[in-house]
Amino acid sequence: MSQLFAIDGPSGSGKSTTAKLLARRLGLGYLDTGAMYRAATIEYLRQYPDGASQEVVAQLVGDAELTCETSPNGPRFAINGRDVTDEIREPRISAAVSEVATNREVRRLLTVRMRVIIAEHDRRIVVEGRDITTVVAPDADVRVLLIADPEARVARRAAEVEGKATAEEVTDQVLRRDRDDSTVSNFTVAAEGVVVIDSTFLSPDQVVDRIVELAR
Ligand code: DC
Repeated sequence: MSQLFAIDGPSGSGKSTTAKLLARRLGLGYLDTGAMYRAATIEYLRQYPDGASQEVVAQLVGDAELTCETSPNGPRFAINGRDVTDEIREPRISAAVSEVATNREVRRLLTVRMRVIIAEHDRRIVVEGRDITTVVAPDADVRVLLIADPEARVARRAAEVEGKATAEEVTDQVLRRDRDDSTVSNFTVAAEGVVVIDSTFLSPDQVVDRIVELAR
């Protein structure tokens, strides 16, 4: 039976924590699509430290061999044979990822890869990102937009990266990235049929409970 869950939301809304918990609870795969954009960004910065045109970046992504694990227990990511799982969370990647994520051809290419991964799992997978409910899998069985107050989102990211970034860097990462990202996908307003869950005052388990209820 298809159990495709699409979860979108801004940075720090609790998407990843919730999606992983949900996948574990229901025995499903888990795909972190943000990590795919981050892996592409690492390869771009490695190959073109001085920048490159949109066409060149799209070509790089089209040619890249991207390995995405789908276990909800610490999935690993590799690009062109190099494991980048730890590097993808570095502040320099968070700061640069919007440049790659706003490239329309890159989005098209990665969307195709996401759909292949969903099909390989017979649609038994939780997929989280920014445009999963609207572009990647608008036909998902359950579609959720997870939101939270900006203060809560900044605080969560700060706790995640503890010590690895200053408070200023974290605030910039969260709020500036929201602005940049919202130029390509609208993840602040729910599309028709998408259920909004505000996680500001909910624990991850409470959010998962609500999503499981929706699936029933
Ligand atoms: O969720 P995250 O912070 O790891 O996402 C990294 C970046 O990728 C973020 O800037 C938004 C972008 N992204 C996107 O545009 N579409 C997705 N489906 C997932 C992430």
